Parts: sequence; C-alpha cells; structure tokens
Amino acid sequence: MLGLASAQAAGQSTAAPRQRILMDAGWRFQLGDPPDVTTNVSYYPEIPHIQQLQQDQVSGPRSETFYETNRADIFATHAGEDVSFVRTNYNDNAWRSLDLPHDWAVELPFDPRGDNGHGYKAIGGARFASNNIGWYRRTFTLPTSDSGKELWLEFDGVYRNCLVWLNGHILGRNVSGYSSFYFDATPYANPGGTNVLVVRVDASQFEGWFYEGAGIYRHVWLTKVNPVHVAQWGTFVYTSALSGSNATLTIQTEVTNQDSAATSKGTLTSTVYDAAGKVVAGATAALDIPAGRNLAATQTVSLPANLWSPQTPYLYKLVTTVSNQNAIADLYKTPFGVRTVSIDPTNGVFINGQHVEIQGMANHQDMAGVGEALPDRLQYFRIERLQEMGANAYRCAHNEPAAELLDACDQMGMLVLDENRRFGTNAEPISELTREIRRDRNHPSIFMWSLENEEPLQGTATAASIVKVMQDVVHSMDPTRRCTAAMNGSWGSGVSTVIDVQGFNYFLQNMDRFHSRFPNQCCIGTEISSMPTDRGIYANDRVKGYVQAYDIHWPGSSSEPSEEWWPFYNSRPWASGAFSWTGFDYRGETWPYANWPNVVCHYGTLDLCGFPKDNFYSYQANWTFKPVLHLFPHWSWQTPGQPVNLWVFGNCQEVELFTNGVSLGRKPLQVQGHVEWDSVPFAPGTLRAVGYSFGVPVMTNTIVTAGEPAGIALTPDRSTILADGRDVSVITVDVRDAKGNFVPTASNEISFSIKGGTILGVGNGDPSCHEADKGSQRAVFNGLAQVIVQSTAKTGAITLTATSPGLRTATAPLTAASSLPPPAAPTGVCATGGNARVTVSWDIVPGATTYDLWRSTSRGGRYAAIAKSIGGVNLGYVDCSVANGTTYFYAVTANGNGASVKSAAVSASPAPH
Ligand code: GAL
Repeated sequence: MLGLASAQAAGQSTAAPRQRILMDAGWRFQLGDPPDVTTNVSYYPEIPHIQQLQQDQVSGPRSETFYETNRADIFATHAGEDVSFVRTNYNDNAWRSLDLPHDWAVELPFDPRGDNGHGYKAIGGARFASNNIGWYRRTFTLPTSDSGKELWLEFDGVYRNCLVWLNGHILGRNVSGYSSFYFDATPYANPGGTNVLVVRVDASQFEGWFYEGAGIYRHVWLTKVNPVHVAQWGTFVYTSALSGSNATLTIQTEVTNQDSAATSKGTLTSTVYDAAGKVVAGATAALDIPAGRNLAATQTVSLPANLWSPQTPYLYKLVTTVSNQNAIADLYKTPFGVRTVSIDPTNGVFINGQHVEIQGMANHQDMAGVGEALPDRLQYFRIERLQEMGANAYRCAHNEPAAELLDACDQMGMLVLDENRRFGTNAEPISELTREIRRDRNHPSIFMWSLENEEPLQGTATAASIVKVMQDVVHSMDPTRRCTAAMNGSWGSGVSTVIDVQGFNYFLQNMDRFHSRFPNQCCIGTEISSMPTDRGIYANDRVKGYVQAYDIHWPGSSSEPSEEWWPFYNSRPWASGAFSWTGFDYRGETWPYANWPNVVCHYGTLDLCGFPKDNFYSYQANWTFKPVLHLFPHWSWQTPGQPVNLWVFGNCQEVELFTNGVSLGRKPLQVQGHVEWDSVPFAPGTLRAVGYSFGVPVMTNTIVTAGEPAGIALTPDRSTILADGRDVSVITVDVRDAKGNFVPTASNEISFSIKGGTILGVGNGDPSCHEADKGSQRAVFNGLAQVIVQSTAKTGAITLTATSPGLRTATAPLTAASSLPPPAAPTGVCATGGNARVTVSWDIVPGATTYDLWRSTSRGGRYAAIAKSIGGVNLGYVDCSVANGTTYFYAVTANGNGASVKSAAVSASPAPH
C-alpha cells in the first residue's frame, strides 16, 4: 500500500485526497419568490412537468411515462440567470441568517384552514401561497488549490421540489423531499474566489399524509475529490460467507477516472480496521482506468470477526485507497458491520443464524421543537428512548431516513426497515430508489428494504409489475437483503405474488389464513397497533381533542392494543414480529378527533417530545430485562370518592394494590397483559402496588397525591455537550409541589431564558397545543415540557433558567466543551437470580452507544468483563455462566467517548425455582 511518505517524496500535496466539508452554517433565507420569478423560474421547461409529477405521484405509472418522454433538458446553463435571487451579485443582507438543518413549516403558525394530515400548519396549496416557497443563499470561497479537483454539492434532504444554482448556473433539481442527491458542481465553481449557492424550495405540494416540514432540513456537504476517485456512494462491503465467527467479506468498489486525457495507473487497496483501529484484513489490486471511465472492482478478504447484532453492535471500518501514478488519489472510509441476515417462512428473521423477533416501532422523523430539522444528537436521543422501551427495530415510515439515524442504529444495535417514498418504475422513482440503496447498503442495522406502503394499486397486476422492477433493482445492488411491501389488503394477489417477504399492515385475523395458503412465503408485520392515547389523559375529551391513555380498542377501528398484537405475533415465529404504529407521536393525522384544535397524532407510544405514555411500560415489561411495575393513572384527583380505574403493567406474577395502606387484594398479572382495579374511590394519600413472583414481593411502586404547584425542576439528558454549534441537550421541565412531588395535572406556563447557548425549540407533548415550537415559553402539559438547548461554537457555561409566576425558579447549569466526557455510570442496575442464570438490567445512559458488563464473586473484588459492547437492546443481559448457590456481584459501564465509569455493584444468587 502506498503511504503518505511516498506521496511526500514524490513532491505531491499532503492535503487529504478527499475532503467532505459540512456546509450547514451561514445561510441566508427568504420566504416567497421575487416579483421577477414569474417570467423566469416558472418558465423553466421542467416546471410544468414537475408539478404534474407531484399531482400524479403514486397514482400509477402512465402519467410519469408521459412526462419522462416529454421532458425538456433541465441542465441548460444560465437558466434562471435573470431571476434576481439567483444572481451572484444579488444583495441578500436583508435576508434572515440561519444554519441548517432548517424546517420553515415548523416556524409557521397553526391555522384551522391548514391540512389536518399535515398538522394544520399554514402551508401547502394556493391558500398559503406566500408560505410555500423558500429561497436559500450561501456564499463561500474556494481556495485556488481546488482547481483541478472535482467538487460535489451533496444534499441529504430538502423538502421538496428544489432547484439548485451555483454562481448563476443551474445545477439541477430534485423532486422528492426524502431522497439524498448531489450535483457535480465542478464546471461552475470558482476556485480562488467567491461562490454563491442558491436553492429554491417549493413546498406547495405534499408527498405524504403526515407532517413533512419544508426546507433544507438535513445536511449539505461540499466534497472535493481528485479526478481519480471512488464514485459517490461507490463502496459496498458485505458478509458473503460466515462460519462461526470466520467471515468472508466481498468488497465492491467503483472508481472513476474523470480525467478526460490520461489513463490512471495505480492500485486499489481495501483495508479493514477493527473498532480499536487495528488492521485486520486487506486486499490490493492493480487498477488502470482509461480516461473518462468508471471501473468496478470486486475483492474478497477473510477474517475472524466480531459479529454485529442488536446485542453486539460491533463496527469495522473499510478504508479504500486509490493510487494513481504512485500518489494517493483517494482515501474513502466506509463503516460497516460483519453479519448475515436471513428470513425463513417458518421461523422468521435471523441475524448471524440466531433468531431475532422483531419488536419494532414505525416512526416518522418529526419531533417537538424542531419539526423535521433534527440535529444529529436527536437521532441518538430518539433511539435511546425506543431502546428504553425495549424496541429492537425501527421502520422508517414512509421514506428514506437521514443518514445519521442509520449511524445511530448501527452504533446502538437497532435493526432498521428502510423504506422508500415513491412507488414507480420511471426514471425519477427508480433514481430515488437507487440512491437510497447505494447510500444505505453498508449499514449493518438495515435488515430489509420496504418498497411500498398501502399503495392503492397493491392488489393489481400493474402493481405486481412495478414492484417486480423495483425489487430487481434492489437485488442487483444488494444481494444480501430481502424486500417487503407494507400491504393492508389484497394479500395473495398483486404485489404479494412477487414480493420477497409479505408485509402485513394490521388485520391480524387474516394472517393465519394467508400462512396456511402460502406456507412457503416469508412474512413480517410491517405495521400494527395504531392505538390513540395521550400522556396523562384518563378521559376522552372531544372538545380539546384528547384521548385517554388506557390501552383499549378505539370503538369501530382496527386499533390493536399492545396486549393483543404482541402475544399474537410472539406466538407465531413465521410472522417475524412487527412494527407498532408508532414509536413517537408526529404532527398531523389527528384521528379520532380529526379536526381543530388537534394538531398532533395520538398514535405514539411516546409523545412528540419523547415522554413515555403509559403503554410504553407494557412494551417495556415484555421486551426488556428490567423489572417493571407501572401503576397508573396518577393519584392527584380533584374530588375525594371519585371512581378511578387503576391499571398495572409489569413483569411479575401477581400484584397487590393498597390505598392509604389498605389492601385492595392481590391479582394475577399476565406478563403480556395488565391487571386492573375498576372504580376505586379516590382518597388523597398514597397508592401503592406490590409485585410478587413465586409468592415473594419483588417490586413496589408508590405514588402520592401531589399538592399545589410550587416549583420547577430542570433535568438535562446530558449536562456537557460539544461546543460545535450543533450539539444539543434535551432538558425535561417538570412542575413540583412544595415537597418535591411531581404534579401530574400541572399546566403552568413557563418562560425560559438562556446564557451561553441557544434555545433550539420547546415542546410539551400536548396534541392540541398551538404555542410556538420556536419560542422561549411553553406551558407544561400534565406536568411536563421540554426545552432543546443548542451549543454555540464557544466553550464554557450554558445556563438555562425557567420561571413562572408563583413557582420557584429553576436553573440548569450545562457546559459546552471542546470534547465530550465519557458517559455517566449506568444507574438503575439490578440483578435478578434465576435457575442457573442471573439477569442484569440497567437504565439507558444518554450519549452511550454500548455497555460492558463486569462480574465478581466478592463485593469490591476483582471485576472481570463478562460481556463487552452490549447494545441498548433489552436494557440488559442474561448471564448463563453461573452456578446456583453462589453470590455474584455485577457492575456496568457505558461506552461513548473513551474511558467510562463503573456503576455501583449489585448482587444476585441464582437458585433453582
Ligand atoms: C396506516 C398508514 C400510516 C398511518 C396509519 C394510521 O394505514 O400506513 O401511515 O396513516 O395508518 O393509523
């Protein structure tokens, strides 16, 4: 392999052969077209076709064929040069300054005339014409040394229908708001001078039936490569054979020689590094590429590997080095995991030959305070919340996800069902699909691709031929994964007849019949549940648009409570498990109160902020090793004697309930269900649940009647964040009584001020709240609100202060640092002895990706690591290498940034039951 030393000896530049520069900072933004746009931008030949495509999307292939064949050339240079906003010398000083990611829809007011599906925001269609179009401009310089480089502008996601210009020249357009795209800007760039990048975003049309945001809501990158380089998304490394831990990797690399005159002469070196940075495998091949050509090379390497799985999310890095004429032309890094994935019609999904039951949550990408524009850290925050519940799989409904979501899932051990947005076989949807697969196929977390959701055509022969083309495209780019289609009917016909894996949305009653008709067809539950519930609400309220949090059927709907759908899937290995609709609430789709003032759906198991609703604990009891005894509702009612239905979710065998010390009796608890005491008269004081297993009390949960609101508490998820202007801390705001008890009915308005950082957004999970996400105040909803605090580029103290009339003020001291400390020691560590096993569980540590488990046979003795790099899945580990009768001591460390701190020790003695 060529080293940098030889490049230096040859007198070549030692600058990195490839640079990828984040372009998020320093944009100017303006809502609305300039007056001169009517005759210019609308004149672009592709515009009428784009609009037709929007209107016709997902309605069938006919119209798209028409527009494809009638499409004019959209890459005419200078197109748009007469539009004032596009001109390089346009003065945008009066425009608003902002950094990406940015969603302007979330900044707009709610409006009862808005689209219910999109959360009543004042955007979309002719009614909100003045809010539909956004313009972005960014000025940047390029060094003279960039002459001769290839310069790419990469957009991870722009909602939607955007036109992009550099220095007055149109680079192109992208229609879908979910596909990543890039343009080769080389011919239009100005090395050694100023460059102006302009983006016009048209969010007047919708792609989905849920809140979708507006604007450049994911990252923008400038990539600089030499003329000889690895193509965009040009590597694919996969496990082609696995025997025990001995793996054979196939490495495919596409290398481009953009030089129009000379053949490149050199080598392609693929080097595999383990997580500690040690070289563990490699291969080199000669690579001569004729001028202007692309070459694809295939190499294989073997290694004894640490396998990736949800329990052990171990990652390697492939470093691809391309040399030309004895100099390093490119150096490209691809993180990946070594693992196999398969599915069989009888037993479901297997990772590395081990069965994995899908405990899934489907999600949109929307969050309180930020809309669609999530800083990277929030992707991790959301995966932490889902793992806390015990979910091991994430469905990206109904569109391609942000790359950083996939990074989080790779690192933390969350399986992903990666889904496209558009169903079709013409150039645009196939290009979107191709970009998705090329961008995402190295992520070990992705275990399957989903090619459609409930397309109206799904049962027809036309749909079968469309999905066949799409599936063939996927197979040609990725031989390792199967495809599914999320169908809500017509199983057995149309798409069913060609799809690799039959997806089921809802309708449990049809599944056994399908399986007995088609026993050789692989199946998966792509969508289930759709239970409307709201956090802290225990009676439906049609006027306010609130739904009670008890996990019960909504009359006349096909909603399935967790305790119905999970036992159904769990007892049918052929069905593979399923994805509940949804993990988090999202804006829009407010059924069953599908009208104003409701602006957020009720389907989440967590609300829009990520605060758990009660049925979160039903999943947690079933899906984690954590001891769970969740008692609800609260015990802070207005009227003594008022009848209250009390529920408990848990994973013990019996529960006894006490009001003010008086037993209401002991009842058996089905672990997949709940136990209930109806119409218990409220008496201020304490409500206590005691959980028993094998007749012995093993857990208790006590809640008390809260007094009047007296103070505020602020709890950051991480108190040290990076001073990079992007990192965030998520602060929980809650209202307490004079004794420090949480007040579950509080609705106080809280005002926030900050020093040393910025408030990125606020939220409270109230599905009918019309307060601004981008404000500095928010009412608590049933006691809770959230503030997302973002760092600036300056290190030092950040202080968030929360005030409210009549309440004690609270401050949250945070630190912005130039590097992150290791994650805190895990808390909530608990060891439970079983027969020849000990189950150890702990709570999620914010910022940790994996955990190590340590064991000793004496308190304070020498702890040896018994399991390393455990993913967050199941919140724990079952230690089976133990002997009954011995006492074991356990401690846990959380891994994130270097060294980590051990938790307090806990002990357990396994014994036969
Ligand atoms: C499904 C659909 C989801 C969502 C859900 C609401 O049919 O796939 O996107 O609309 O219904 O229950």
